[in-house]
Amino acid sequence: MRKIAPSILSANFLRLGEEIKAAEAAGADLLHIDVMDGHFVPNITIGPAVVEAIRAITVLPLDVHLMIEKPDLLLDDFIAAGADFVTVHYEATPHLHRTVQRIKEKGVRAGVSLNPATPVWCLENILPDADLLLLMSVNPGFGGQSFIPLVIDKIRALRRRLEEKRGSALLSVDGGVKLDNCRDIASAGADILVMGSAFFGSENYAAVVKAFREITKE
Ligand code: DX5
Ligand code: ZN
Repeated sequence: MRKIAPSILSANFLRLGEEIKAAEAAGADLLHIDVMDGHFVPNITIGPAVVEAIRAITVLPLDVHLMIEKPDLLLDDFIAAGADFVTVHYEATPHLHRTVQRIKEKGVRAGVSLNPATPVWCLENILPDADLLLLMSVNPGFGGQSFIPLVIDKIRALRRRLEEKRGSALLSVDGGVKLDNCRDIASAGADILVMGSAFFGSENYAAVVKAFREITKE
């Protein structure tokens, strides 16, 4: 079963607790939390204190997507705050293998993300270690952007490579995911679809989850 991970970047921050409860009640599988530093991406969002507050009000797994430079400096803080997955960008850390090991040593699942222009073969030597592979389908920094179509081929290629190597990492896709493209994204090989504006911008979160299940069922 494909998983839907609402991205709280598009939630109403004044009512963040209620929004998260509503996403959980609607049947979301994970909660995607976008952390931005104003350097790696041209935007600033949330830090470990907010993740800790979120941890206290939901049982959903927290999928923390670090769009920050020098992620090693903050790994411990996000892990202590209660992240279940910590994903770093291939483009943001020179010692990716060490970073992934550090996350896993703390008992947390390690993810590696690629920007749209970074080829999937860059993941080749981290495939056996990563628990999650996150393909960005927009240039990271903002919600509400359009899905970049070339990423469909990247999803297919990465799924093929995972099968060849018998890799067990989950394949996640993030950016511009809507109900009208999630069939193509799922059938290309995604396990997790991150949905920000199309989820929190809708009137009825449960209806989005129901439609998602129907569209992406095998
Ligand atoms: C973009 C973030 C995404 C974003 C997705 O930098 O990583 O997670 O919230 O938002 P939508 O679904 O609106 O593209
Ligand atoms: Zn994200």
